[in-house]
Amino acid sequence: MTDHARRRWLASVGAASLAAGLARCADDPVAVVPLDVGPLDEWQEVRWRLFERARVIMARDPGGLFAMSATCPHQGCVVSPRPGPVCLPPEDGATSTTPTLCCACHGSNFDGDGLATTGPAAPLRLVHWRVTVAEGRVTVLVGDSVAANVRAAG
Ligand code: FES
Repeated sequence: MTDHARRRWLASVGAASLAAGLARCADDPVAVVPLDVGPLDEWQEVRWRLFERARVIMARDPGGLFAMSATCPHQGCVVSPRPGPVCLPPEDGATSTTPTLCCACHGSNFDGDGLATTGPAAPLRLVHWRVTVAEGRVTVLVGDSVAANVRAAG
């Protein structure tokens, strides 16, 4: 499968999942999947990092720890940290110390908080997931959405 075909397939799977989610009753529980993103000691510096398979961007800014879905709100491609002037295809573990994210599919750019600032995804925002810290480990609760300004201490 070509990279383009893979992205189109992932986008269609994402759209199907969204449709299935919208069809559920409001009382149905939403699945929350914990993602261990490592020891707290590794998250002491400001940075953004992609966990591609889980489609999560874990980050620390001056306010604390937070995480976002890496699924682009335009057509479902993977959004990635953008350390330089060029938007590179997503790669697991891609890291940046500057608050810029991008989607290589159609060129949308996002600020470090997940707000699309340019491109076809603007002005949509990446969904933020709850982050917890316990016993020195950082966990993202994928599926447990929180406001974009929520930060975990750590
Ligand atoms: S899917 Fe991200 S800009 Fe189109």
